[in-house]
Amino acid sequence: MPRLNAGQRHTVQFELNGKSVSGETEPRLLLSDFLRGVLGSTGSHVGCEHGVCGACTVRVDGCAVRSCLMLAIQINGGKVETVEGLAANDTLSPLQRAFRRHHALQCGFCTPGILMSLSELLDADTDVNEKSVRELLSGHLCRCTGYGNIVRAALEVLAENRAGGTVPDD
Ligand code: FES
Ligand code: FES
Repeated sequence: MPRLNAGQRHTVQFELNGKSVSGETEPRLLLSDFLRGVLGSTGSHVGCEHGVCGACTVRVDGCAVRSCLMLAIQINGGKVETVEGLAANDTLSPLQRAFRRHHALQCGFCTPGILMSLSELLDADTDVNEKSVRELLSGHLCRCTGYGNIVRAALEVLAENRAGGTVPDD
């Protein structure tokens, strides 16, 4: 990577939820702030800003990462998925529908990050079980719901995926 000077602006270009986007950034700008402040993609929330709460979690090249622990400039040429990309043509994803059905959110502040982390886990489905879902959730702070309904929603989608079926709408 070429030498970067603070204050100097650079163009970053990447794929956001399947669409090519670009914007100007200083080297020190966080990916979370770039998504929200520069691109107006405000689905990913910002809580602690130091990697603890999980609210800012997005997927980068398929992997769930804290966007407050990445610099925007690191994403150049990559692929980013945020909660805005989960629904297709205004149809919620199976995981989102399961969250709705199981009342797995209240204020919703933590929800985008949890959905992105769970989507990675469920896509991979390597030895996923209740324990691994709970371990994943230990990296996400929710101050409203407790975690029982979130676990139930995730396990329902896991079971449906394995059965090759689809989660019902309601
Ligand atoms: S805002 Fe990134 S982990 Fe809390
Ligand atoms: S639903 Fe409010 S913080 Fe999780």
